[in-house]
Amino acid sequence: MKVAVIGTGYVGLVTGTCLAETGNEVVCVDIDEQKVESMKNGMVPIYEPHLDVLFHRNIKAGRLTFTTSLEDGLEHGEIVFLALPTPEGEDGSADLKYVLGVADEIGRLLRDYKVIVDKSTVPVGTAEKVRNVISENTNVEFDVVSNPEFLREGFAVDDFLKPERIVVGSTSERAIKLMKKLYRPYVRSGNPILIMDEKSAELTKYAANSFLATKITFMNEIANFCERVGADVDMVRRGMGTDSRIGKRFLFPGIGYGGSCFPKDVKALHKSGGESNYDFAILEAVIKVNQSQKTILLPKMKNHFNGRLKGKKIAVWGLAFKPETDDIREAPALYMIEELLDEGAIVQAYDPEAMDNVQKVFGDRIYFGKSMYEAAEDADALLICTEWSIFRTPDFTKLEGKLKGPIIFDGRNLYDTEDLQNLGFTYYSIGRKDIVS
Ligand code: UDX
Repeated sequence: MKVAVIGTGYVGLVTGTCLAETGNEVVCVDIDEQKVESMKNGMVPIYEPHLDVLFHRNIKAGRLTFTTSLEDGLEHGEIVFLALPTPEGEDGSADLKYVLGVADEIGRLLRDYKVIVDKSTVPVGTAEKVRNVISENTNVEFDVVSNPEFLREGFAVDDFLKPERIVVGSTSERAIKLMKKLYRPYVRSGNPILIMDEKSAELTKYAANSFLATKITFMNEIANFCERVGADVDMVRRGMGTDSRIGKRFLFPGIGYGGSCFPKDVKALHKSGGESNYDFAILEAVIKVNQSQKTILLPKMKNHFNGRLKGKKIAVWGLAFKPETDDIREAPALYMIEELLDEGAIVQAYDPEAMDNVQKVFGDRIYFGKSMYEAAEDADALLICTEWSIFRTPDFTKLEGKLKGPIIFDGRNLYDTEDLQNLGFTYYSIGRKDIVS
């Protein structure tokens, strides 16, 4: 099929590339000339496992092309995906200026029937707004479909190629038929394409992300409480997770969720609630708890160093909001580093992928190690903010040799507390007994 993808950010690029992979002819449109030029030259603008292989293969096969012309893209695609940014507006709601701006242009350029697909995460009612804006400028027939993405960073290619479900929000038989045809190759295993009205599709995305954020936050509160009463959150987590109604996943406590989706989506759903006179009390609590969770290790650090972090050298392992990405949006590490700098501490950081991005934020206010061990050189303590695999099994003898004192503050519960006790470390984690050697 012929597809256009408007916007080559994270979602657009993964969508375009993966749609080309099953034989569709995909034209990706972006207003950024430099970006389009470099993609034409084979440069992948983001880090995402496996994306580069598919990207190069499909460019070479001529199925994946790039342009800055919306007109050319629109002429090419029978299905036109809108994968545009929906940043958090000043009041917490999603800002639709990019989506509606492109819709306005589409209205002016439309020559024949198209299915316009909202891929961006947008509030309930956006498909209707997009339809109205397009209609203002045209009499040509078209349909607007809501088709939210459920891509996890780090697993986006796999999530796209083998989705657990595909949600299509539309009541137009013509559009539904085309969407089913497009997605058929991705659900050969029998996973469903769920057809629903567009508002339910729009809400599904917010509800799913807000539920997951709530699940994590609930566990974080249980972890904090475990510390008060001397329980072990690892045990509680296992005890709970074996109940199939609860499930084992997304029960891992830590220093809070971050990223480009959860924080923005929870806030946007909360805000939408307000606009419809509905008080989403649970989401308000989630936002509040997650914010304080990001710096929950700070009081423990201060307490350990007798209230003074001034002049203390702190090694930080992990800066990205989660492993396998260079994305630092809303990353707990940033909040911890800001607090540490405020306290007068010296920060030496290491991350396998995200150091360039963090340097743009902190400039020369923090130092970077070329390796995880170099970052630990002469540090008074190590703070772990992201659970990259390489941090899971460090050479503890080497680490101890680098650190001034064998002290670890672990925001992701990477190690067994008993193991660390036996190794002679002082070890603080989340929701478990602190080991003070
Ligand atoms: C999420 C959704 O999973 C995806 O479906 C949606 O489309 C986009 O948002 P992503 O933001 O890439 O994906 O990351 P995810 O792997 O879901 O993790 C989100 C955050 O939750 C991370 O900060 C992670 O560290 C945290 N997390 C996750 C926990 O703290 N504990 C857990 O048990 C799981």
